[in-house]
Amino acid sequence: MNTPEDRLHVVFGTGQVGSALAGRLAGLGIRVRAVSRNRPAARPGIDWRAADVADPEAAADAAKGASVIYQCLNAPYTQWPERFPPLQRGVLTAAERAGALLVSLENLYGYGPTGGRPMTEELPLAATTVKGRTRAAMTAELLAAAEAGRVRVAIGRASDFFGPAVTQGSTLGERVFGNALAGRRADFIGDPGLPHTYSYVPDIAAGLATLGTDARAAGQVWHLPGPPTVTTRALLDLMAGQLGHPVAIRSVPKLAVRALSLASPLMRELAEMSYQFDQPFVLDTSKYESVFGTAGTPLADAVAATLAWYRTRTSAS
Ligand SMILES: NC(=O)c1ccc[n+]([C@@H]2O[C@H](COP(=O)([O-])OP(=O)(O)OC[C@H]3O[C@@H](n4cnc5c(N)ncnc54)[C@H](OP(=O)(O)O)[C@@H]3O)[C@@H](O)[C@H]2O)c1
Repeated sequence: MNTPEDRLHVVFGTGQVGSALAGRLAGLGIRVRAVSRNRPAARPGIDWRAADVADPEAAADAAKGASVIYQCLNAPYTQWPERFPPLQRGVLTAAERAGALLVSLENLYGYGPTGGRPMTEELPLAATTVKGRTRAAMTAELLAAAEAGRVRVAIGRASDFFGPAVTQGSTLGERVFGNALAGRRADFIGDPGLPHTYSYVPDIAAGLATLGTDARAAGQVWHLPGPPTVTTRALLDLMAGQLGHPVAIRSVPKLAVRALSLASPLMRELAEMSYQFDQPFVLDTSKYESVFGTAGTPLADAVAATLAWYRTRTSAS
């Protein structure tokens, strides 16, 4: 049997979650290689390879010798249908060639609107948005490869990210934490009075590491635990309490979003996902918690750690 020191885990993607996951795995004593196109800052215990993963041969080469492969890639938000599936195919080829377990990080777009019903793993993938259908088709490809016996797969799903170093590409990034810290209003589109699950990046990394190291994970979909779900308003109030000043919201009216969508491709992409903030958006993580026995970070701790990172970042820049 392999000891942790013998095993090689390869993390595709060195972004918000990929880098946190690589650090988590290295901390467990596992040999880690990260793969992306642009060299990230060097970190102890983490080897790095350059590869364009859209090229399956390059992806397979970068992951040679892996026992576990993690998919933490992302494609430009305005080009998901064209650019995202080829990335996953590269990772799939790499996992098949290496005979590795493939742990894939997904978001919740594939489910589509649930009318406010909490999302469990049994929910059908019924998305009607462009990005949601792309995600659902990618999931179907993974499951088909697993079904055909080509690869072992474990899927981990998370909601909108926040956490240290999460600045872009998330509702709870720069325009909420950065603005709040600077005493400006937080930008938010939707109803802040509704419950909304936000996933904390260190929890996502811990969850994915469990999927990659616990034999019970393979062959299933898992909702990754995070801080308890509250309303966005309650989260901002908690943040305000820690900052010692109120955090007001600058909300963008629906009509303005629609008007902006005409001119801005990114606004168009955001607009199609706005249903997530017009109804309760709650991720049920009880399946993971009942099997693996761990829950997410308390919300106050997660917010404090995120603010602490933003403070350091602000004073360093
Ligand atoms: N953002 C959220 O709130 C959220 C919530 C839940 C789930 N998710 C999901 O989590 C996953 C990861 O998202 P993220 O926000 O962590 O991503 P991210 O920070 O944008 O990082 C994406 C990574 O992919 C790499 N990459 C992109 N194209 C590549 C290519 N052709 N070859 C090699 N590497 C490539 C990038 O590095 P280079 O550019 O250097 O190649 C980067 O390291 C996505 O599936 C996303 O849908 C996101």
